[in-house]
Amino acid sequence: MVSKCLAALVAAATVLARTPAGFTPSSETDLVVEYNGFAPLNGVVVSRSVTTSQPRIGTRARLNGTSYAVMMIDLDIPTNNPPETNTLLHWMQTGLTPATAPTTLNTTAGTISAFLLEPRSSSSNSTTGAAAAAAAVAEAIRPYSGPNPPARVPLSHRYTQILVDTSGLTAQGVEALRGAAATIRGFDAGTALAAAGLEGRVVAGNSYNVTNAGPALAPNATTGGGAGGGGGGGSASGTGVIGGGASQTAVLPGAGVGLRPGSVVLGGLVAVGMVAVGL
Ligand SMILES: *[C@@H]1O[C@H](CO)[C@@H](O)[C@H](O)[C@H]1NC(C)=O
Ligand SMILES: *[C@@H]1O[C@H](CO)[C@@H](O)[C@H](O)[C@H]1NC(C)=O
Ligand SMILES: *[C@@H]1O[C@H](CO)[C@@H](O)[C@H](O)[C@H]1NC(C)=O
Ligand SMILES: *[C@@H]1O[C@H](CO)[C@@H](O)[C@H](O)[C@H]1NC(C)=O
Ligand SMILES: *[C@@H]1O[C@H](CO)[C@@H](O)[C@H](O)[C@H]1NC(C)=O
Repeated sequence: MVSKCLAALVAAATVLARTPAGFTPSSETDLVVEYNGFAPLNGVVVSRSVTTSQPRIGTRARLNGTSYAVMMIDLDIPTNNPPETNTLLHWMQTGLTPATAPTTLNTTAGTISAFLLEPRSSSSNSTTGAAAAAAAVAEAIRPYSGPNPPARVPLSHRYTQILVDTSGLTAQGVEALRGAAATIRGFDAGTALAAAGLEGRVVAGNSYNVTNAGPALAPNATTGGGAGGGGGGGSASGTGVIGGGASQTAVLPGAGVGLRPGSVVLGGLVAVGMVAVGL
């Protein structure tokens, strides 16, 4: 049994992309996403309460571009025609620059050394030219809004984050991103990047799930405000699925070390465990 599980984990690890299977533009490079010590990386399930405020993001290797943008997209919003789903843009921030030195993050996924991406400070003028300057300006084109899956099918949503190299982005490119972000429902990252002249510029990615405890309401139930909240609304589950749930510690060897490689498989077990204990 144990060896079967390990075999499954190894198999999962070899096919794991950092962005979810089927999602484009994809990336196989880690984007570190950290919420106050919680690092929901590569497909794990995390409590909604962990993800309410904007995370810190970073890369394991230092990037050499001058400006970057992050996007976060929910790939699984319900429609009135299930199992059809749609997408929703949760975050688009431009003007991020890589820190010159790594930061040590003490997280649920272990200790991670990451070069954080931070909004460009006005005192650093390394780029020249009006267009580059305009593109480099830190702008929350769509300010961060945390996951809040409603009690509808699908109860579990994949939230993917992608990091885009926007070095040399033109003023028109920025305008195209703003235009694409104006409609958050049905947001398509590939289309938005193409419109901005940023094809092939995704340099890192990540994804995690947030799951509503359910039960799922009828397809026609009101959609307002994410009825029912997420999987971690109650204080009892405030420690989150990562690093908190009994089902998770039963599966994992330690407090999150080793979480990443088999995260898809583990996540599934955790989700089943959550239902079983009624979280
Ligand atoms: C930046 O890094 C990429 C990937 O490592 C490399 O291909 C590229 O040549 C580098 N560019 C510069 C200007 O150093
Ligand atoms: C990381 O967290 C663990 C557990 O809370 C703690 O024992 C350790 O001192 C922390 N390390 C750092 C560098 O903060
Ligand atoms: C950076 O650019 C801004 C606006 O163009 C300017 O006000 C500021 O003095 C510049 N800072 C440095 C350190 O050059
Ligand atoms: C859902 O609502 C729409 C419009 O209000 C209605 O036409 C449709 O029949 C409803 N479907 C179900 C399954 O209740
Ligand atoms: C994440 O959500 C997707 C979409 O609902 C689902 O297919 C997948 O099984 C979920 N993953 C986990 C680990 O729960």
